[in-house]
Amino acid sequence: MDAPTGQNPEDLHTGTDAGISAKVTAPLMNEDAFRRVVEYAPSAMVMIDAGGTIVLVNAQTETLFNYPRAALIGESVDILVPARARAHHAESRQGFLGAPRPRPMGAGRDLFARRSDGSEFPVEIGLNPMETEEGVMVLASIVDITERRRAQQVLEQALLEKTVLLNEVHHRVKNNLQVISSLLNLQASNVEDPRVREILNESQNRVRAMALTHQLLYERKDFSRMDLGEYLDRLSQLLLSAYRGGAERISLRLMRPEAQIHLDLERAIPCGLLVSELVTNAFKHAFPGEQHGTIEIRLEACGTDEVLLTVRDDGIGLPADFDITAIKSLGLQLVPLLVDQLHGGLDIGSGNCNGPGAHFSVRFSNVLPTRSPA
Ligand SMILES: Nc1ncnc2c1ncn2[C@@H]1O[C@H](COP(=O)(O)OP(=O)(O)O)[C@@H](O)[C@H]1O
Ligand SMILES: [Mg+2]
Repeated sequence: MDAPTGQNPEDLHTGTDAGISAKVTAPLMNEDAFRRVVEYAPSAMVMIDAGGTIVLVNAQTETLFNYPRAALIGESVDILVPARARAHHAESRQGFLGAPRPRPMGAGRDLFARRSDGSEFPVEIGLNPMETEEGVMVLASIVDITERRRAQQVLEQALLEKTVLLNEVHHRVKNNLQVISSLLNLQASNVEDPRVREILNESQNRVRAMALTHQLLYERKDFSRMDLGEYLDRLSQLLLSAYRGGAERISLRLMRPEAQIHLDLERAIPCGLLVSELVTNAFKHAFPGEQHGTIEIRLEACGTDEVLLTVRDDGIGLPADFDITAIKSLGLQLVPLLVDQLHGGLDIGSGNCNGPGAHFSVRFSNVLPTRSPA
């Protein structure tokens, strides 16, 4: 069958879709001009009639499908379609002609085309209805997306490998830290001096707080940030189990908002170590003898981009001459350093309307840093 003849240039603008009503600015086009545009288009262009017969192809079609033009004109479009897709193709052509408007073909489905040697390749196809004197025809523009697909698969594979690797790294770091924790535990159980045992136990708590960050990272598979509320919840369980001796008379509770608060990984460990130091101190110092009491960890959002983290107890309170800048012991020397790493500000207080007690509050930003690509 021959290509449509005597096509009225106006017809190019009078499709049924409102989207091609650009009559005002589009150039008027005679048939020669139309054929030139099609011929030199960078993608394969195939025009078929309502019965599925090819009436026009361009140079790119010959290259892409490896057919000389003469072998295509007058043939059924099935020649370009894999056998398994032919029935569906005929059906959807009828559907298209029933409501002709420019649109991508097979949205959401993977489309394939067939070369002269029977081999297939993935394609993207745009469909345009064309009013001609011989009825509505379909002008299909066909792009070979083999390269794009391949590049996408390479990227997806690389991303998957990286995720698996990151997961593995966090898993191993966590395991190594747990080995260190067990060693400290063994050492602590072998020493007589209660002071040394306590030092070893406190070090063990610090290592466990660090291991927990890595454990949560691989459990959650989110390697860019940490849900601070969940982390503090798990950390308080760890700390409580470390002080099971005092857990009968001392309760530890966590107050956290319903909405998640996220923290970047760089600051998750200092934050965990800070809470570990402060809670350990409260267990150790706030309730001497058989005194009962409560330790509270409170996480609050302040506005949209700040967080207030408080550890308070209702124990005996800080010593009267307490001066954090003059402290010689490790725990409270670490605290200001950790607060610095959080880029936060520390507020320390002793005593409140309910009695003595101690409280330590850190206010810091929880705006996650935006990483620039390496
Ligand atoms: N929650 C608390 N209640 C009462 N006293 C505390 C509390 N936290 C810290 N302190 C006091 O601060 C001192 C220094 O704490 P720290 O530097 O952690 O050393 P350590 O815990 O090894 O004694 C403690 O010895 C204790 O006197
Ligand atoms: Mg301490």
